[in-house]
Formats: sequence, C-alpha cells, structure tokens
Amino acid sequence: MAFDAYLNEHEERHLHDLNRLLEIPSISALSEHKEDVARAARWLCEYLESIGMEEAAVLPTAKHPVVCAEWLHRPGAPTVLIYGHYDVQPVDPIALWTSPPFAPAVRDGKLYARGSADDKGQVMVNLQALEALLQSEGGLPVNVKVLIEGEEEIGSPSLEPFINEHRGRVEADVVLISDTSMLADGLPTICCGLRGLCGLEVHVTTAATDLHSGIYGGAVANPTHVLASLLASMREGQGRILVPGFYDDVLEPSAQERAQIAALPGDEESLRRRLGVPALDGEPGYSAMERTSIRPTLEVNGMWGGFQGEGTKTVIPNEAHAKITCRLVPNQDPAVIAKAVAKHLHDACPPSARVEVEIGHSAYPWRCDPASTPIRAAIRSLESAFGTTPALARLGGSIPVVESFDRLLQVPCVLMGFAAPDANAHAPDESFPIETWRTARFASARFLHELAKGD
Ligand code: BES
Ligand code: MN
Ligand code: MN
Repeated sequence: MAFDAYLNEHEERHLHDLNRLLEIPSISALSEHKEDVARAARWLCEYLESIGMEEAAVLPTAKHPVVCAEWLHRPGAPTVLIYGHYDVQPVDPIALWTSPPFAPAVRDGKLYARGSADDKGQVMVNLQALEALLQSEGGLPVNVKVLIEGEEEIGSPSLEPFINEHRGRVEADVVLISDTSMLADGLPTICCGLRGLCGLEVHVTTAATDLHSGIYGGAVANPTHVLASLLASMREGQGRILVPGFYDDVLEPSAQERAQIAALPGDEESLRRRLGVPALDGEPGYSAMERTSIRPTLEVNGMWGGFQGEGTKTVIPNEAHAKITCRLVPNQDPAVIAKAVAKHLHDACPPSARVEVEIGHSAYPWRCDPASTPIRAAIRSLESAFGTTPALARLGGSIPVVESFDRLLQVPCVLMGFAAPDANAHAPDESFPIETWRTARFASARFLHELAKGD
C-alpha cells in the first residue's frame, strides 16, 4: 500500500521529529514546568497542522491544555478519535539515568528518553501513521479526530469537563489509544481492561511540637510508630487487604478467564529475575499475572516523618505521613473504597494520636468486549504489521479517561499499546525499541483501513 513506502521513506525524519517532542520536559506534576507543558502542546498542534489535519488547536483547561485536530471528509465512514497524552512523569532520581532524560539517545536499538514509551513515542506512532495516509493517499480511510491531553500523569482532572464542553471535538464511533504495554518483546498486545485507582494521603499527628525523647519518651505516642501500625493493619502478610468491605464489589474471574490468563506468555521466574526481587509477593491464591491485572491492591507509595539527617537525634517527632494508592478492578467504586480505607484508619488510630485522611484523585476500572468489531480490526492490523497474532489481556495500569469515554459517550476504546515490558515507564532510563516504533506506525495506518472495511 502507498503508506508503506511513505513510512519507509520518511523513517529517519519521523525519528527526528519524535526526538524534538521528547526534548520538551512536559512534566505535568511540577508547576515549574507549566510553560514546557504548554510548549509540547504547541509543538503537537503545529505538527498536526503541517501534516494536513484540520481545525488544529491548543485548547485551554483549568490546568494544562488539550491539543485537538480533525479530518472529516469521509461521509458515511466511521469516525475514529485518537487519544494520547503528551505530559510525562517527573524524572527523579535523576542520578540513575544513563543519559539525560530530555536528551534522547539511542543505545542497543532503543530510544532512551522520558516519555519515549509513555506516551510521546506511542502518540507519534499514531500521528505519523496519519501523516503517511494523508500524504501518500491524499486523505484518510475514515474520519479522524485527535485529542492529546497534558494531564494524564496527574489523573486527568480536566478531561471530563473538557469532554462535556467540547463534545463536537470528541464524539466518535471508536477511540484508538496507544498508551499500554506489550506482554513480551515483539508480541503486539491489545489491552482489554484497565485497573481503576484511588489515592489517599494520611497524616498522623500528636504533640504540639517535636519532643526530647529522653524527657518525654515513655509518656506519649510516637506518630511514626502509629503510622507504621496503621499501615500494617491494612494488609495481611503477603498482600490480602484487611480493610473491611475492600473486596465486596470485586468480580471474581470465571474459570474460563483464569485459564486464558494462565495461557498468556511469561513465567513468574523470569519476571522475578527481570525485576531483581528475591521472591515475588502478593495475595495468596492468584498468579502474579492475575494479581497485577484482575485483582485489587493497596500500596504505600511513600512515607515520611521524623529525623532523617546525619547521625542520631534523640527526638520524638510530632507528625508522620504516607501516600497510598489502591488499584481497583470491576466493580469497585473509587469513592466507596477511599471511604472504606479512611474509615479503617480512623477506627484503628489509637486515642494517643490523631489521624487525618485526604482523598485524592481517582479513576474507575474498565474492561471491554474482546470480540467487538473494532478489536477484530485491531487484531488484523497488528497481525499484518508484526507478523504474529496479538495477545489480548487485561492490564494493571490505569488511564482514567478510558472509562470516561465509555460512560460519557458510550464509545468503545481500542487499546493497541506498544511499550516494551522493560520500558521503565515512570522510572530512570525509560526507553522505546526503535524497531517496535517503526512497525507500530504500519499497524496504526493499517488499523484505519481495517476500520473502513468493517467486519
Ligand atoms: N500509560 C500508563 C498506563 C498504563 C501503562 C496502562 C501500562 C497499562 C499498561 C499511564 O500513563 C499511567 O501511568 N497512568 C497512571 C494513572 C494515574 C496517574 C492516575 C497510572 O497507572 O499510575
Ligand atoms: Mn501513559
Ligand atoms: Mn504513565
């Protein structure tokens, strides 16, 4: 097909373009990068204009802008919304990066940079496929809308209001998203489910000020000890959650679904080795693949309090803090779970301390019908581009807006993701294999043709 030749011919320049986007430190969580986030949005908008997409615009929200564009010249054909995010995670610990996070570098066939896999590299896969189709075929096989947001890594707080305000920019028959990972190297993977999320911050306080541990030690509670026992009280040994009600709404997998998960590639020993842990750990009775995709979790993401400087300081601190997130599965409701966790913490707090719980951002869990027409189109296009049958699996990460598309617009999402299993997303030395990026562009262009054909 014409787009094949175009993609081959323009590979070098496409990689060059991706590098320009990767150089922009669009970290949505850090306010000192607000202008960089805006610059990444403008870069994408100009790129979309340059390839022949229409109505390209950087649209403001309460926080970071959304980039939109469209091409709607196939009356009667389906309309595809391409979603992605141009914001990235913070880069610390910066000392652990082999090359600087915003100076893209190639080593062993992999492109290293923050955002290379999550999600700029995958966004460019889909946009470069649009470019190839527009430039080599004079148009697209279907109608296309583009929505690239800048707040995914902070929970997409502005996106539901944005969708409600700009329905015309968003409404479509199907959403294409490339923001997930592959189960094994070279194995294209369609994600059929995402976990939801709820975040909490816990603050334990005691005395009005830090206290001398010799003068007062023995008479008052130590908030770091209180926090440690509160956190410990929420989990049983290997990871079953003890918060009352936590599992009430969890859908148990059918025997058939468990068999399908067991048949997916990847064994626990190689996972253990790749992660460098002495042993895997988690809720008894489920495989690691099950525990990371179809079972809920509660994790402490960080905790702090007390003296952390050099040497010894004989002090009883007066506060201690922890950040917690729960990963949720159908049919758990993030608001219900956050309340249950907060109640447990209040109930378990001893009278000698105070606990305060702040409820943070949330996302609902999501799953889709793996036998739908658009998923079958995705299977055919991945097969033809990668030369191998894609895997279908529910994955453990969260993309808050996917469930919003479902609930607000009743539009099905196809999650065709290309990040490698060892991509180091959110971690130092994030990377994207160049060969995967190359091939994924063919799959994406092909997908639009397959959608135009129908079943
Ligand atoms: N792209 C990821 C989500 C993902 C990765 C899903 C791999 C499935 C497989 C996304 O950018 C992400 O990191 N999401 C956050 C959401 C949170 C900040 C609300 C997550 O999952 O932690
Ligand atoms: Mn992502
Ligand atoms: Mn991410």
